[in-house]
Amino acid sequence: MGTDSLHESTRRNLRAASLREGHLGSLMSILTPIAGQDLKHALSNNGTMGLGYALFIRPFLAVMDSEKAHKRAILGLKLASFTAIGRMFLRLLYKPRKLESEAFGLKFSNPLGLAAGMDKKADAMQGWENLGFGFIEIGGVTQHEQQGNPKPRMFRSAKHKALINRMGFNNPGSKKMASHLSETKKPNIPVFLNVGKSKITSLEDAHLDYAKTVEVCGPYVDGFVINVSSPNTPNLRELQKDEDLARIIKSVKTHSGKKPVLVKIAPDLEDAQIKSIVNTARDLDCAGIIATNTTLSRPDNSHPMSEQGGLSGKPLSDRSTEVIRLIADHTNGDWLIIGVGGISSAEDAWEKITNGATLIQIYSSLVFSGASAIKSIVNGLEKKLKSKGLTRIQDAVGLARRV
Ligand SMILES: Cc1cc2nc3c(=O)[nH]c(=O)nc-3n(C[C@H](O)[C@H](O)[C@H](O)COP(=O)(O)O)c2cc1C
Repeated sequence: MGTDSLHESTRRNLRAASLREGHLGSLMSILTPIAGQDLKHALSNNGTMGLGYALFIRPFLAVMDSEKAHKRAILGLKLASFTAIGRMFLRLLYKPRKLESEAFGLKFSNPLGLAAGMDKKADAMQGWENLGFGFIEIGGVTQHEQQGNPKPRMFRSAKHKALINRMGFNNPGSKKMASHLSETKKPNIPVFLNVGKSKITSLEDAHLDYAKTVEVCGPYVDGFVINVSSPNTPNLRELQKDEDLARIIKSVKTHSGKKPVLVKIAPDLEDAQIKSIVNTARDLDCAGIIATNTTLSRPDNSHPMSEQGGLSGKPLSDRSTEVIRLIADHTNGDWLIIGVGGISSAEDAWEKITNGATLIQIYSSLVFSGASAIKSIVNGLEKKLKSKGLTRIQDAVGLARRV
C-alpha cells in the first residue's frame, strides 16, 4: 500500500471515528441527566464509555441543580425519541429482554414501570417505552394548574442514594393535560395517570377534584392512581382516612369506566391504618394498590436530610417492602400490589416481587444509576427466575410468603 492510500485510509478511519463520537457525544449529553452519575456504567456496559464523560459530564452533573438536571433529562429524552433513528439508538443501548406478565387485563412486556412524578407532564412517553419500561405512570395531575412550592424543592443525597422533594404537585392541570394527551401518540405500553388534589380545593371537595381529572384525562390512559399520600400538599394524607378515601374512590369510579383504579399509600402509617385503607379500597372494587410513596422519616441529619419533603431512594426500601408484605399477607396475595421504593437492582426488585408485588416501579435509581438501571433490573430478574427453575415472573410473586 502506498503512503497516499495509507493516509487516505487513516483519514477515513479518523473521520468514521469522529462521526461515531459525534453521534455518541450528542446522545450522551442528551441522556446524561437521566443517566446521572452512572451513565459511565451504562455506556461501559455497551463498550462505549468515553473519556469525555469523566472529564466533562460528571463534574457538570455534580454541580447541576437537581430540578434543572431533571428538566434537561426529560427534554433530552423527548428529543432522543423524536426520530425513528433516535428511538432505535435508545432501544439498542437500553432495552432489556422481554419478561412478560399480565395484570388488570393488560399486557406488560416486563414488570418494571416508571414511577409517578418523573414525567409529570407526559412529555417523553415514547422515550420511556424505548428505554424499555414495561409501563409508565404519568402525573401527578390535579384539576387546576399549579406552580407547586417555591424552588429549590428537590435535593440529592449521593451518600444515601436518596432524594428529598417538596414539589407540591407542579402540573399543567387536567384540561391542559387532556389536550396534550389528545395530541400525543400513546406509547404501546400501559399508561397510568397519577391523580392528586389541587391545593386550592378544600378537603371536603377533594373527591370532585380527583373525579374531574379522571373525567377529562380518562380517554387517553389505561388506568388511574388515586394519590392520597404525597407529603407535600397540606393535609393531603388525611384523605387516607376511610370515609374520605371512600368518597374519593366512589367519585373517581363514576368516570373510570372499566379501567383499573388503584390507590397509592404512604409508608408512614400504622399497620392497622394500612389494613383499613386496603379494606376500604378493596370493598369499593379498586384493582390494587401502589406501595409506597415517599417517607417523612430520615436516616440521619446529614445534608440535605434537614430539608422538608418526602424522602425516596435507598433508605425507603425496607419500609416499602414491609408495607408490601403486610398488604400481601392481609389480602392473602389476592389483590394486586405495585411495589415502589428504593429499587435499584434486580435483588431489590426480587425482594419486592417475592414479598407480594406483581409489578414494580422506579424513580430515584434512574437519577443515580441512569437509564441502564432498567436493563440491569429486568435482565437480572430474568436470570434470577431461571436460577430458581421458574419460567414466568408471576410464579415469583409472593414466593417469600410461601416458604
Ligand atoms: C421529585 C419527585 C416527585 C414525585 N412526584 C410524585 C407524584 O406526583 N405522585 C406520586 O404518587 N408520587 C410521586 N413521587 C414518588 C415516586 O413515585 C415514588 O413513589 C418514590 O419516589 C419512591 O420510589 P423510588 O425510591 O424508586 O424513588 C415523586 C418522587 C420524587 C422524587
